[in-house]
Amino acid sequence: MRLFSAAVTAMALTLGATSAMAAPIEIKFSHVVAENTPKGQMATKFAKLVAERLPGKVEVKVFPSSQLFGDNKVLEAMLLGDVQMAAPALSKFQKYTDSLQLFDLPFLFKDMAAVERFQSGPVGQEMLTSLESKGLVGLGYLHNGMKQLSASNPIKVPADVSGKKFRIMTSDVLQAQFEAVDAVPLKKPFSEVFTLLQTKAIDGQENTWSNIYSKKFYEVQPYITESNHGVLDYMVVTSAEFWNSLDDDVRAELKKALDESIAYGNKIAAQKAEDDKQAIIDSKRSEVIEMTPAERAQWVTAMKPVWKQFAGAIGQDLIDAAEASNQ
Ligand code: SIN
Repeated sequence: MRLFSAAVTAMALTLGATSAMAAPIEIKFSHVVAENTPKGQMATKFAKLVAERLPGKVEVKVFPSSQLFGDNKVLEAMLLGDVQMAAPALSKFQKYTDSLQLFDLPFLFKDMAAVERFQSGPVGQEMLTSLESKGLVGLGYLHNGMKQLSASNPIKVPADVSGKKFRIMTSDVLQAQFEAVDAVPLKKPFSEVFTLLQTKAIDGQENTWSNIYSKKFYEVQPYITESNHGVLDYMVVTSAEFWNSLDDDVRAELKKALDESIAYGNKIAAQKAEDDKQAIIDSKRSEVIEMTPAERAQWVTAMKPVWKQFAGAIGQDLIDAAEASNQ
């Protein structure tokens, strides 16, 4: 009997030791931008908060600058369980849902405050569920900012981009936007943009101040037009399979840490848009061009028909709700 109870105690000790040593849940967070960007800083903050609040339980490993996956592969990898979190630009979800193409419509939001109003309102929040049928969970939006046009020639009016090749993200709306002004859009991964610009394989691209600065596009693009013609924002996503596999208390703690990290990233985004624009101006590598209201009106007239073209796929109700956020 004594021998039996000693054996039971030894077994219990072994099991206890094994569970105490259980490896933490690993969250690989993959993104394509540099660490000193709103998304990079948000991901780093999230990893830090999780390390503080769930030590030994969950570990977040951040892979910036397309080190693990480019945006065009990351969602497939997520569904296969090879990566647990990412925050692709909203333009990169077209394969999974039509509705998020809303955010690509040119001149839809007048500024980032309008984008924030829309995303935090009922329609924007409902859109976080638009990937559910594909096995993906939208955990929140993250800002980067308004897009600008960079090019090898000065751009003021639509005629200036006629016949010019522009890199775009993988979005049919963005393709239509450039075709509307007789430019030639090319869907290419973010990781290739610098080389395409440097080798003059393309003439220009559209992006935010922080991406233009952190990826050094301004060093190989002599002109940047402050067009603010569209928004580049993100959705932080995970797979339903991974998210639902977590204990309730762990999931709740992760969501709390993520919400705080997103708020932090959004603050950085607003500041970086100003600072990085100024840094580009100070560098004197690229001339920043402003449009007059009359010049801007020409772009709006040329690009606005894209809204009608995609209203069926996106939903006129979503377009109306987004427009209403400008008031
Ligand atoms: C990003 O900000 O995540 C990349 C944007 C792009 O592909 O241009």
